[in-house]
Amino acid sequence: MADELSKRDQRWQIRIRDLHKSFAAQQVLRGIDLDIERGKINIIIGGSGQGKSVFMKHLMGLLSPDRGHIFVDGQDIIGLGDVAIAKVQRKFGMVFQYAALFDSLNVVENIAFPLLERYRLPKKEVLERVRDLLERLDLARVPGIEQKYPAELSGGMRKRVGLARALVDRPEILLYDEPTTGLDPIATRNVDEMIRRTADDFGVTSVVISHDMASTFRIADRIAMLYEGVIIASGERREVMAAPHPVLKEFVETSGAVHFGGRAS
Ligand SMILES: Nc1ncnc2c1ncn2[C@@H]1O[C@H](COP(=O)(O)OP(=O)(O)OP(=O)(O)O)[C@@H](O)[C@H]1O
Ligand SMILES: [Mg+2]
Repeated sequence: MADELSKRDQRWQIRIRDLHKSFAAQQVLRGIDLDIERGKINIIIGGSGQGKSVFMKHLMGLLSPDRGHIFVDGQDIIGLGDVAIAKVQRKFGMVFQYAALFDSLNVVENIAFPLLERYRLPKKEVLERVRDLLERLDLARVPGIEQKYPAELSGGMRKRVGLARALVDRPEILLYDEPTTGLDPIATRNVDEMIRRTADDFGVTSVVISHDMASTFRIADRIAMLYEGVIIASGERREVMAAPHPVLKEFVETSGAVHFGGRAS
């Protein structure tokens, strides 16, 4: 593999090359090449079942590819042992598509979970961090929120608790799998702003999977489109929108978010 990929690069934090993954006879990823820019919001769009979630799970070593490489800060994470991969995983926070909260833990316990699992922090500090996130995610004003269990929350609240849990350990890289699907327009905007602020305030590198083109145009620095197992278009938002690939153009126009020839940003 080329030497340049094995060094920490100032601009590109994650570099994916020739990534392949099949499940039985189904080829899902057929040679993904993509660079993820440090400190920016990198959005990956694509239709349902195109392999977006599968792709994202590879980035933090939750799935192993059949072939290919993923360099995180110059380190190829494919084939690493358990200890080494656990160390890489500490750079990441992940917001799962379906909030994936623990039903038997309340909101505070859910959010604090990654901290309690990894460190021996004083209870007071843990609670401060949790409350700060509840505040920032607009959950603090829900009466009794701290003691509520997931079953007692709305879908949108569950999503935001999932976000808080991903943020609590202050990761360098945040992976969001469809963070706004199923939210109303106001909650969507709040989550968008939270993603934008987290990227700007903490210099976090964000990788966001999205169906939501309006959100994508609002917050993306870079856009990539996954289609039939490969990335068919990628680049800075303006660049991608200025000369859209025909499949991307159709996807975007069908969503009703933008009509090309009109304003793209
Ligand atoms: N663990 C698995 N075992 C077998 N097949 C899987 C597995 N995970 C995903 N798949 C298959 O891979 C394909 C891509 O799934 P994936 O969840 O990545 O889609 P997606 O692009 O995230 O779709 P959506 O937008 O609906 O979330 C699907 O056909 C799915 O059935
Ligand atoms: Mg998915």
